[in-house]
Amino acid sequence: MRLEAMPPPARAYTPPLGHKILTPFYDLAIGLLTREGVWRKVLIENIAPNDGERIVDVGSGTGSLAVALLSRVPHLQYLGVDPDADATERATAKLAAEGLRAEFNVGFFEADNLAGIPNKIVSSLVLHQVPLMEKRRIIENMYAALPANGTVHIADYGEQTSVLARALFRMTVQALDGIDNTQSNAEGVIPELLSAAGFSDVSERSRIWTLTGTISIYQARKRAPSP
Ligand SMILES: C[S@@+](CC[C@H](N)C(=O)[O-])C[C@H]1O[C@@H](n2cnc3c(N)ncnc32)[C@H](O)[C@@H]1O
Repeated sequence: MRLEAMPPPARAYTPPLGHKILTPFYDLAIGLLTREGVWRKVLIENIAPNDGERIVDVGSGTGSLAVALLSRVPHLQYLGVDPDADATERATAKLAAEGLRAEFNVGFFEADNLAGIPNKIVSSLVLHQVPLMEKRRIIENMYAALPANGTVHIADYGEQTSVLARALFRMTVQALDGIDNTQSNAEGVIPELLSAAGFSDVSERSRIWTLTGTISIYQARKRAPSP
Protein backbone atom coordinates (compact mmCIF):
# COMPACT_ATOMS: atom_id res chain seq x y z
CA MET A 1 0.00 0.00 0.00
CA ARG A 2 1.36 3.43 -0.83
CA LEU A 3 0.34 6.93 -1.79
CA GLU A 4 0.57 8.04 -5.38
CA ALA A 5 1.54 11.55 -6.42
CA MET A 6 1.41 12.93 -2.91
CA PRO A 7 0.69 16.65 -2.92
CA PRO A 8 3.73 18.44 -1.45
CA PRO A 9 3.14 19.72 2.10
CA ALA A 10 2.91 23.34 1.01
CA ARG A 11 -0.12 24.02 3.21
CA ALA A 12 0.40 25.24 6.72
CA TYR A 13 0.24 22.68 9.52
CA THR A 14 1.18 22.44 13.18
CA PRO A 15 4.33 20.35 13.85
CA PRO A 16 4.31 17.58 16.49
CA LEU A 17 4.84 19.74 19.59
CA GLY A 18 3.48 23.00 18.22
CA HIS A 19 6.83 24.43 17.00
CA LYS A 20 9.43 22.85 14.72
CA ILE A 21 12.24 23.54 17.19
CA LEU A 22 10.51 21.34 19.79
CA THR A 23 10.22 18.21 17.60
CA PRO A 24 13.37 16.57 19.09
CA PHE A 25 11.64 16.68 22.50
CA TYR A 26 8.30 15.30 21.26
CA ASP A 27 8.72 11.68 22.34
CA LEU A 28 10.04 12.67 25.77
CA ALA A 29 7.21 15.16 26.38
CA ILE A 30 4.49 12.75 25.30
CA GLY A 31 6.01 10.00 27.42
CA LEU A 32 6.23 12.20 30.52
CA LEU A 33 2.97 14.13 30.26
CA THR A 34 0.33 11.96 28.62
CA ARG A 35 0.55 8.48 30.22
CA GLU A 36 1.48 7.35 26.74
CA GLY A 37 1.95 3.71 27.73
CA VAL A 38 -1.66 3.59 28.94
CA TRP A 39 -3.52 5.27 26.07
CA ARG A 40 -1.42 3.71 23.31
CA LYS A 41 -2.06 0.25 24.81
CA VAL A 42 -5.81 0.91 24.91
CA LEU A 43 -5.69 2.25 21.33
CA ILE A 44 -3.80 -0.83 20.08
CA GLU A 45 -6.26 -3.15 21.85
CA ASN A 46 -9.06 -1.25 20.17
CA ILE A 47 -7.40 -1.46 16.74
CA ALA A 48 -6.84 -5.21 17.33
CA PRO A 49 -4.35 -5.46 14.44
CA ASN A 50 -3.95 -8.73 12.56
CA ASP A 51 -1.16 -10.06 10.35
CA GLY A 52 -1.54 -8.98 6.74
CA GLU A 53 -3.98 -6.16 7.47
CA ARG A 54 -3.44 -2.85 5.71
CA ILE A 55 -3.40 0.04 8.18
CA VAL A 56 -3.02 3.72 7.35
CA ASP A 57 -1.88 6.06 10.16
CA VAL A 58 -2.89 9.68 9.53
CA GLY A 59 -0.38 12.08 11.09
CA SER A 60 2.16 9.36 11.90
CA GLY A 61 4.59 11.82 13.49
CA THR A 62 7.76 10.32 14.96
CA GLY A 63 6.50 6.77 14.43
CA SER A 64 5.55 5.77 17.97
CA LEU A 65 2.22 4.24 16.94
CA ALA A 66 3.96 2.40 14.09
CA VAL A 67 6.44 0.86 16.55
CA ALA A 68 3.66 -0.11 18.96
CA LEU A 69 1.58 -1.71 16.17
CA LEU A 70 4.40 -3.49 14.36
CA SER A 71 6.07 -4.75 17.56
CA ARG A 72 2.82 -6.54 18.26
CA VAL A 73 2.02 -7.63 14.69
CA PRO A 74 5.16 -7.49 12.50
CA HIS A 75 3.44 -8.54 9.25
CA LEU A 76 1.05 -5.63 9.03
CA GLN A 77 1.14 -3.48 5.92
CA TYR A 78 1.54 -0.13 7.64
CA LEU A 79 1.54 3.24 5.87
CA GLY A 80 2.14 6.43 7.85
CA VAL A 81 1.30 9.81 6.33
CA ASP A 82 2.45 13.12 7.82
CA PRO A 83 3.20 16.59 6.39
CA ASP A 84 6.27 17.01 8.63
CA ALA A 85 9.49 15.82 6.97
CA ASP A 86 11.57 16.01 10.15
CA ALA A 87 9.11 13.90 12.17
CA THR A 88 8.88 11.41 9.28
CA GLU A 89 12.67 11.10 9.12
CA ARG A 90 12.70 10.37 12.84
CA ALA A 91 9.94 7.78 12.36
CA THR A 92 11.85 6.04 9.56
CA ALA A 93 15.02 5.90 11.69
CA LYS A 94 13.09 4.66 14.74
CA LEU A 95 11.49 1.80 12.79
CA ALA A 96 14.82 0.86 11.21
CA ALA A 97 16.48 0.78 14.64
CA GLU A 98 13.79 -1.65 15.81
CA GLY A 99 14.16 -3.78 12.68
CA LEU A 100 10.51 -3.14 11.77
CA ARG A 101 9.14 -2.63 8.26
CA ALA A 102 6.87 0.32 7.62
CA GLU A 103 6.23 2.79 4.85
CA PHE A 104 6.00 6.54 5.43
CA ASN A 105 4.98 9.38 3.12
CA VAL A 106 5.44 13.08 3.71
CA GLY A 107 2.22 14.87 2.80
CA PHE A 108 -1.44 15.30 3.62
CA PHE A 109 -3.78 12.31 3.67
CA GLU A 110 -6.02 12.14 0.58
CA ALA A 111 -8.21 9.10 -0.14
CA ASP A 112 -7.78 9.63 -3.89
CA ASN A 113 -3.99 9.25 -3.68
CA LEU A 114 -4.07 5.95 -1.85
CA ALA A 115 -2.99 2.95 -3.94
CA GLY A 116 -4.61 -0.05 -2.22
CA ILE A 117 -7.55 -0.23 0.14
CA PRO A 118 -6.85 -0.14 3.89
CA ASN A 119 -8.74 -2.37 6.33
CA LYS A 120 -8.32 0.15 9.13
CA ILE A 121 -7.35 3.80 9.45
CA VAL A 122 -5.85 5.06 12.68
CA SER A 123 -4.79 8.43 14.01
CA SER A 124 -3.36 9.57 17.34
CA LEU A 125 -3.07 13.11 18.74
CA VAL A 126 -3.55 14.72 15.33
CA LEU A 127 -7.09 16.06 15.06
CA HIS A 128 -6.82 18.36 18.08
CA GLN A 129 -4.07 20.35 16.36
CA VAL A 130 -5.70 20.97 12.97
CA PRO A 131 -8.40 23.54 12.07
CA LEU A 132 -12.03 22.42 12.13
CA MET A 133 -12.24 22.34 8.32
CA GLU A 134 -9.16 20.09 8.20
CA LYS A 135 -10.58 17.79 10.91
CA ARG A 136 -13.68 17.43 8.71
CA ARG A 137 -11.63 16.91 5.54
CA ILE A 138 -9.44 14.23 7.17
CA ILE A 139 -12.44 12.33 8.55
CA GLU A 140 -14.29 12.54 5.20
CA ASN A 141 -11.19 11.19 3.46
CA MET A 142 -10.94 8.38 6.02
CA TYR A 143 -14.52 7.45 5.17
CA ALA A 144 -13.86 7.63 1.42
CA ALA A 145 -10.71 5.48 1.68
CA LEU A 146 -12.25 2.63 3.70
CA PRO A 147 -14.20 -0.30 2.26
CA ALA A 148 -17.57 -1.34 3.72
CA ASN A 149 -17.03 -2.57 7.29
CA GLY A 150 -13.63 -0.87 7.45
CA THR A 151 -13.00 0.83 10.76
CA VAL A 152 -11.41 4.00 12.02
CA HIS A 153 -9.65 4.24 15.40
CA ILE A 154 -8.72 7.60 16.87
CA ALA A 155 -6.90 8.55 20.08
CA ASP A 156 -7.10 12.25 20.82
CA TYR A 157 -8.15 14.90 23.27
CA GLY A 158 -11.92 14.67 23.25
CA GLU A 159 -14.60 16.37 25.28
CA GLN A 160 -13.07 17.73 28.50
CA THR A 161 -16.04 17.19 30.77
CA SER A 162 -14.78 18.46 34.13
CA VAL A 163 -13.36 21.76 35.38
CA LEU A 164 -10.06 20.01 36.20
CA ALA A 165 -9.75 18.38 32.76
CA ARG A 166 -10.51 21.69 31.03
CA ALA A 167 -7.93 23.52 33.21
CA LEU A 168 -5.20 20.92 32.52
CA PHE A 169 -5.98 20.99 28.80
CA ARG A 170 -5.89 24.80 28.76
CA MET A 171 -2.53 25.00 30.62
CA THR A 172 -0.75 22.43 28.46
CA VAL A 173 -2.15 21.49 25.03
CA GLN A 174 -3.90 24.80 24.38
CA ALA A 175 -0.81 26.73 25.54
CA LEU A 176 1.28 24.93 22.91
CA ASP A 177 -1.16 24.39 20.05
CA GLY A 178 -3.39 27.44 20.55
CA ILE A 179 -7.12 27.71 21.28
CA ASP A 180 -8.45 27.97 17.71
CA ASN A 181 -7.73 24.42 16.59
CA THR A 182 -8.08 22.68 19.93
CA GLN A 183 -11.29 24.10 21.39
CA SER A 184 -13.75 22.15 19.26
CA ASN A 185 -12.08 18.90 20.35
CA ALA A 186 -12.56 19.91 24.00
CA GLU A 187 -16.24 20.51 23.20
CA GLY A 188 -16.64 17.00 21.79
CA VAL A 189 -16.63 17.56 18.03
CA ILE A 190 -14.88 14.34 16.95
CA PRO A 191 -17.83 11.94 17.29
CA GLU A 192 -20.06 14.54 15.61
CA LEU A 193 -17.69 14.76 12.64
CA LEU A 194 -17.48 10.96 12.39
CA SER A 195 -21.27 10.66 12.25
CA ALA A 196 -21.58 13.57 9.82
CA ALA A 197 -19.07 11.90 7.46
CA GLY A 198 -21.33 8.82 7.31
CA PHE A 199 -19.67 6.51 9.84
CA SER A 200 -21.91 4.26 11.92
CA ASP A 201 -21.35 2.64 15.34
CA VAL A 202 -19.50 5.77 16.45
CA SER A 203 -18.36 5.23 20.03
CA GLU A 204 -15.98 6.55 22.65
CA ARG A 205 -14.41 3.32 23.89
CA SER A 206 -12.30 4.77 26.64
CA ARG A 207 -11.37 8.06 28.30
CA ILE A 208 -7.96 8.30 29.94
CA TRP A 209 -6.88 10.91 32.47
CA THR A 210 -3.52 12.59 31.81
CA LEU A 211 -1.72 15.67 33.10
CA THR A 212 -2.75 17.36 29.84
CA GLY A 213 -6.49 16.63 30.01
CA THR A 214 -8.39 13.50 29.02
CA ILE A 215 -7.54 11.48 25.90
CA SER A 216 -10.43 9.61 24.31
CA ILE A 217 -10.29 6.49 22.18
CA TYR A 218 -12.92 6.65 19.43
CA GLN A 219 -14.00 3.94 17.03
CA ALA A 220 -16.40 3.98 14.07
CA ARG A 221 -17.34 1.73 11.15
CA LYS A 222 -18.20 2.33 7.53
CA ARG A 223 -21.56 0.66 7.12
CA ALA A 224 -22.05 -1.92 4.34
CA PRO A 225 -24.59 -0.70 1.76
CA SER A 226 -28.04 -2.18 2.40
CA PRO A 227 -28.98 -4.90 -0.12
C1 LIG B 1 0.96 15.55 18.16
S1 LIG B 1 1.66 14.83 16.74
C2 LIG B 1 1.12 13.14 16.86
C3 LIG B 1 2.06 12.20 16.17
C4 LIG B 1 1.74 10.72 16.29
N1 LIG B 1 0.48 10.40 15.66
C5 LIG B 1 1.75 10.24 17.70
O1 LIG B 1 0.80 9.60 18.12
O2 LIG B 1 2.74 10.46 18.40
C6 LIG B 1 0.62 15.45 15.44
C7 LIG B 1 1.13 15.12 14.08
O3 LIG B 1 0.15 15.51 13.13
C8 LIG B 1 0.80 16.04 12.02
N2 LIG B 1 -0.14 16.89 11.31
C9 LIG B 1 -0.35 18.21 11.44
N3 LIG B 1 -1.31 18.62 10.58
C10 LIG B 1 -1.71 17.52 9.90
C11 LIG B 1 -2.67 17.30 8.88
N4 LIG B 1 -3.42 18.29 8.39
N5 LIG B 1 -2.82 16.05 8.40
C12 LIG B 1 -2.09 15.03 8.92
N6 LIG B 1 -1.16 15.18 9.89
C13 LIG B 1 -0.97 16.41 10.37
C14 LIG B 1 2.01 16.77 12.57
O4 LIG B 1 3.02 16.96 11.62
C15 LIG B 1 2.41 15.83 13.70
O5 LIG B 1 3.38 14.90 13.28
